[in-house]
Amino acid sequence: MDELSAVIVPLQFGEAMYENLRRLKALNKQYTPVQINEELALPIYSETASLHSTEIPYRIEKVMFEHSPPSINPHLQLKEVIQGFIPQGLEHVLELIPTKWERLDDLILFPKEAFTESDWVDIIEEGIDFYEQIAQVLQARRVGRQQPIANDTIRSSQMELLLGDSGWVEVKDNGLFYGFDACKVMYSSGNVTERHRMGSLNAEDEIIVDAFAGIGYYSLPLLVHGKATHVHACELNPESIKALKWAAQKNNVSKSITIHEGNNQSTLPNLRGIADRVLLGLLPSSEAAWKPAISTLKEQGGSLHIHMNVEEKHIEQWTKDTILTCLNYAKSDGRDWFCTHQHLEKVKWYAPRVRHVVLDVSFSSSNSAS
Ligand SMILES: C[S@@+](CC[C@H](N)C(=O)[O-])C[C@H]1O[C@@H](n2cnc3c(N)ncnc32)[C@H](O)[C@@H]1O
Repeated sequence: MDELSAVIVPLQFGEAMYENLRRLKALNKQYTPVQINEELALPIYSETASLHSTEIPYRIEKVMFEHSPPSINPHLQLKEVIQGFIPQGLEHVLELIPTKWERLDDLILFPKEAFTESDWVDIIEEGIDFYEQIAQVLQARRVGRQQPIANDTIRSSQMELLLGDSGWVEVKDNGLFYGFDACKVMYSSGNVTERHRMGSLNAEDEIIVDAFAGIGYYSLPLLVHGKATHVHACELNPESIKALKWAAQKNNVSKSITIHEGNNQSTLPNLRGIADRVLLGLLPSSEAAWKPAISTLKEQGGSLHIHMNVEEKHIEQWTKDTILTCLNYAKSDGRDWFCTHQHLEKVKWYAPRVRHVVLDVSFSSSNSAS
């Protein structure tokens, strides 16, 4: 219990005075208001002059207060801190406070529509430390707003940094370190199950070709946890290459990764006949790389992980067509293969009725189907 200055009002004015004090940033929320007979005592930081204009009857006295229990719900904490910025008449924006966000390192990443409605403009401009306070309450140091992943070949990220100087983040997932500039490189938290699935495969003694390596989300787990021998990583975005080199070094596997910079249409043909497994992790479709990817598999066969966005109702047909297409590509390359294993992994919903799927398919020159 601590003795503090308190504004004391008749009970029926408690709520209105609480609002007044909150807006004036005079309310000391670290302590809990206390009812004394028919009155409410509200803890304040200091005796505030602007209160004198209120029509609510009040007096200021010293009162003993108990500490408020700490709010452990981050959504409530965020709401509480933003409430302090909202002037009278704009209370409806409280409903627009984002209810979800991602945390990458010390960066809080809000969804793309967060704080964009017109009413926020003045609130944010006038509250100079708006994003600082948000970062502080969420125990972060930077704040960003997600933008849709660009519809370009390199699937560049368009995160807008709202607080902070740099978008470089370092995250640890499934025992592995990744680092990337979130303003420049895409990040999909929805792919976590697929990243972990890649890490659970046994790739001992295998040579992997990753046709769309990005920052190594799929090939690093295969290398480190799956115990692959070597990864050939094809990537054309210099920012992703920078991130991949950083991760290779940080995870102590630089010697087991060869980065082939540039368009995989030019780099895959240099890797003919060397791979046991090829990753084709590009959305919405990796189809343009299937043919050169198949030619990187060893003469006796190997496995592909083909990512694609497919309408739910077409998944079965797409699976059959894809396997047939791959067998035909192999044949045109002088390889008479059989499909020996297939598995379809549904990773996430990409859009209504459209799924991000991964088709695992294995081919062999001998027909011993499993
Ligand atoms: C879905 S993202 C990366 C997925 C990756 N597994 C990761 O770490 O997140 C696809 C990547 O493929 C790269 N890419 C797209 N087209 C390419 C091409 N023709 N040749 C090489 N890389 C390409 C993009 O720059 C991007 O980094």
